[in-house]
Amino acid sequence: MIPNTNYGKLKDSYLFSEVARRVAEYSKAHPEKEIIKMGIGDVTLPLCTAVVEAMKKAAEDMGKAETFHGYGPEQGYDFLREKIKAYYAENNVELDLNEIFISDGAKSDLGNILDILGKDNTVLIPDPVYPVYVDTNVMDGRNIIYADANESNGFLPMPDEKVKADIIYICSPNNPTVDVYNIEQLKEWVDYATANNSLILFDSAYESFVADKSLPRSIFEVEGAKKCAIEFCSLSKTAGFTGTRCGYTVVSNELVYDGMKLNKLWLRRQTTKFNGVSYIVQKAAEAVFTPEGRKQIAENIMYYRENARIITNTLGEIGIQYYGGINSPYIWLKCPDDMDSWAFFDKLLTTAGVIGTPGAGFGKNGEKYFRLTAFSSKENTQKAMLKFKELFSAK
Ligand code: MLT
Repeated sequence: MIPNTNYGKLKDSYLFSEVARRVAEYSKAHPEKEIIKMGIGDVTLPLCTAVVEAMKKAAEDMGKAETFHGYGPEQGYDFLREKIKAYYAENNVELDLNEIFISDGAKSDLGNILDILGKDNTVLIPDPVYPVYVDTNVMDGRNIIYADANESNGFLPMPDEKVKADIIYICSPNNPTVDVYNIEQLKEWVDYATANNSLILFDSAYESFVADKSLPRSIFEVEGAKKCAIEFCSLSKTAGFTGTRCGYTVVSNELVYDGMKLNKLWLRRQTTKFNGVSYIVQKAAEAVFTPEGRKQIAENIMYYRENARIITNTLGEIGIQYYGGINSPYIWLKCPDDMDSWAFFDKLLTTAGVIGTPGAGFGKNGEKYFRLTAFSSKENTQKAMLKFKELFSAK
């Protein structure tokens, strides 16, 4: 038996597991110390009432013979897919129901999609980036090239005709660097992909945080994108589903490479390897798209936006350079005193008990940067910012 030796090329642990390991080690040695978590983008507000009620009702359905559900369709129930179709239509994106696949979250599908893409493709990934894009391609042994995202290009790399890539990852609003591509910029990527027979994997997990109405929330708002892009979205950040698990992936019927329809391949893959998301969770997800659900999740998003405002106000006051907090739940800041990002992580942990995510964990261009999330409670966000003031005000 030969194991997948590509795993030997991965870093020892996944970024957020490494952060959790360091925090656990520190907490064990200092049990008296209060820890404020602003690292992994995990939400703190509970599920909204509309979702909880739908989930309870669905649990009751499962307990009665007339409404019990066994195996569901692997690609998701129509009641939820209809809601997602209508959600896209609000931004003038027309989808066929069979183009929408319900998943247990964007991370899983971003990894699983690679099953239907050849291993000889060259992959273009921005740096810094959500580490899942890199790690899942390393696992498959694909050739990876990087597009530098830095201050000089506003952390939004644009296509370069001299660089040939078959698969291109775009995350907008970006994790971790918080910026959002506008329609014209996305159009350039769509044109590049069309001209080069490439495929864009578009991660829109943070779309619900886009406050600027002129910015796109979906790559399908760009003409021609249905012929060259797959979109991944999740209810984790939108509706606090990090522990509930539900997302969706849009694989259009117009994606054809070497005469093969990607929609057909993905359906084949999912029906073979995936049992679908549970009826109870899909009913909960359906409630997110009802008028009541929409109103309630908008209130939660406002709560996180206020946290972002508290963070950016403080950083501005104490003179730490930062990006984001407006169209994104993350704040991307420059480590004070030219500190390395893991050194800054250790300093914050040991002196203030505040956890963030070191930029270097997202790639080499993340070195000397740091990411904070606005997903904590307001109380903890305020406490953390007081600590920042104590530590860095004199600088
Ligand atoms: C993050 O912190 O980057 C995300 O929460 C991780 C994820 O969504 O998997």
